[in-house]
Amino acid sequence: MAIAVLRNDDKTNAWRSLLRSKAPDIPVYDYKDSFPKEEIRMAAVWKHPAGSLSAFPNLLGIQGLGAGVDFILEDPDADPGIPVMRVVDPYLASDMAEYVLAQIMAYLRGLYVHASDKGQKKWNPAPYRRIEDLRVGIMGMGQLGTAVAGLLGRTGFRVQGWARTPKNASVEVYHGPKGLPDFLQQSDVLVCLLPLTPETQGILSASLLEGLPQGAFLINVARGPLLVDQDLIDALDTGRLSAACLDVFHQEPLPREHLFWEHPNVWITPHVASVTDPDSVADQVIRNYRALIEGRPPENLIDRRKGY
Ligand code: NAP
Ligand code: GLV
Repeated sequence: MAIAVLRNDDKTNAWRSLLRSKAPDIPVYDYKDSFPKEEIRMAAVWKHPAGSLSAFPNLLGIQGLGAGVDFILEDPDADPGIPVMRVVDPYLASDMAEYVLAQIMAYLRGLYVHASDKGQKKWNPAPYRRIEDLRVGIMGMGQLGTAVAGLLGRTGFRVQGWARTPKNASVEVYHGPKGLPDFLQQSDVLVCLLPLTPETQGILSASLLEGLPQGAFLINVARGPLLVDQDLIDALDTGRLSAACLDVFHQEPLPREHLFWEHPNVWITPHVASVTDPDSVADQVIRNYRALIEGRPPENLIDRRKGY
């Protein structure tokens, strides 16, 4: 019985070594190596290559190595009869909160504008705004959205959230389609932290952006397909939105010909808002493997019907 690590990047070997060092009794394989595939009971995956899961006939569960599991649920080779687990980790939450705070502060103080002015040797003492001037709305009040709301609230921002179901939280949380218009109207900054599901795909569209205050600022740190790219460009070009910060894209890496690269009011980071820290989450992966083997319920199970 063993674990196979399947990733689309160069971190597979590091994960294998880390899991092996923490649990020397568990065989851990890089999916590209040759080993008896029928031994594998858990696949630990991050955007694994298409078709790679079909090699394992005796899987008991699939462990996602990040918070989002959309890439697992979309995979026709991921047996719908076995559990899917995701990562829940305090660093994943605090890193996301710090990223969002940094981007909102850069927006308030015009730091991207000044960086671009420097490239043109342009002295431009533009006016700036204060924390008290902005209301922040967070779409998705789960593990990450709640952490973002906490840090922004402690920093002095007026914060509200939106989720699928009602919440008893320290900030006002609107819910469901009925709660969306009031939530949007009060969001000078809109932070998207929804999971990608059939319900949320394309939710950041022209009709939603229309509901924001004039000149709002959008931050999408969830998944690229939540956004309708052309609708964002149109909203920026008409001034309905003043700027957008995007960390996630339909296609990653973002293709060189994409309009976002050239747009002056689109700020881009390469899916680094919050990256799983292997040292911090390896123990939960190992606990989940042992739970699967021993027939106990694993931690951080996702609900396939909800899609997250
Ligand atoms: P989570 O704990 O599962 O929370 C999801 C939140 O979204 C919940 O509040 C849920 O509402 C809400 N939601 C889901 N579907 C909805 C709908 N149709 N309408 C309204 N609200 C809806 O997820 P998380 O751990 O916070 O992570 C969120 C996402 O962040 C991940 O799925 C991933 O895609 C993304 N992410 C990105 C990065 C990055 O580096 N850019 C890093 C980590 C994660 P309920 O509370 O009512 O269920
Ligand atoms: C990163 O995008 C994650 O889902 O953890």
